[in-house]
Amino acid sequence: MLRFPRQAQFHPLKFLNGVAGVIVDSGGEIFTGTRVISVEDGDRVTVRTQDGHTITAQAAAVATNCPINDRVTIHSKQAPYATYAICLRVTRVVEHALFWDTAQTAEEEKKEIGPVRYHYVRFARDEQGDVLIVGGEDHKTGQAKDCAQCFVNLERWARARFPFVAEVTDRWSGQVMEPVDGVAYIGCNPGDKNVYVVTGDSGNGITHGILAGLLIVDLIAGRENPWAKLYDPSRKTLKPRTLADYVAENANVAAQFRDYITPGLAKSVDEIRPGQGAVLRHGVKKLATYRDSNGELHAFSAVCPHFGCVVRWDPCEKTWDCPCHGSRFDALGCVVNGPAISDLQPVEVPES
Ligand code: FES
Repeated sequence: MLRFPRQAQFHPLKFLNGVAGVIVDSGGEIFTGTRVISVEDGDRVTVRTQDGHTITAQAAAVATNCPINDRVTIHSKQAPYATYAICLRVTRVVEHALFWDTAQTAEEEKKEIGPVRYHYVRFARDEQGDVLIVGGEDHKTGQAKDCAQCFVNLERWARARFPFVAEVTDRWSGQVMEPVDGVAYIGCNPGDKNVYVVTGDSGNGITHGILAGLLIVDLIAGRENPWAKLYDPSRKTLKPRTLADYVAENANVAAQFRDYITPGLAKSVDEIRPGQGAVLRHGVKKLATYRDSNGELHAFSAVCPHFGCVVRWDPCEKTWDCPCHGSRFDALGCVVNGPAISDLQPVEVPES
């Protein structure tokens, strides 16, 4: 068993509120709801927004889970994984701690390529008392056979190990970026001198966000930092296991382009029920079609604007997910997760 001492638990939104307060009190400004469409390196960095505004600065840090500025390099060194969590009420007082099933992981490490399956457990408290949060059941984004089954598996796993849990109060899923060698990419974007990235968080974004705040400030200021080499986004590793993962993950991305020649998941828009979506073949094109709760149909090109893979419908989150590098779009085609920086292209709704 591996034990990490001196752990701490805090409320992420309260923490963010504190950070935002410090920024504003120090004279900084925060703009939300502003979509950045390019970040260009140079002696001064140029950031352009969708509304036509331009910001220049000595340096810029792109901290968007999956970078929106780097089209290829970083995306070939990390892979997007959907991850699931459930919250269960507990019926007795428990010690608050975070546990990872590393024993199972170590066993699976011997036989699998890519990140191994894992579960984690932590205790938290809401207004009504203690709850158990259980997470895991990851799979490559857009490549689930049955996302609802992931929640079932989590609950089964939790009840087998924690017999004192009661009802499930919440279920949710998210996306994590898995770096090929297991360590995040925090530092200068490969090939740039004044643009920085924070990515490859592997589910540890809160820890990495704080770490990145310390590390990137030192890099911009030209100060030494003992973590710089470890997290350098340009690092190369020649370990056989890492190289095997690199090849396997990129072969998986290449394989997703077969979607161009496969039939659609639904044969006609008539098969799509309210609140659901499906990819249809329409001549040589693939269309992402969604029927809203009022029965109205919406159609978009299913081609991801990042690099051209075909998106897939996630019936649990009601999103269009790209199986290549993790771009995600809401049911109406609006991008919610990079690396894509634009929405799915609306098209005419096909007839029945
Ligand atoms: S995210 Fe790269 S092709 Fe869709």
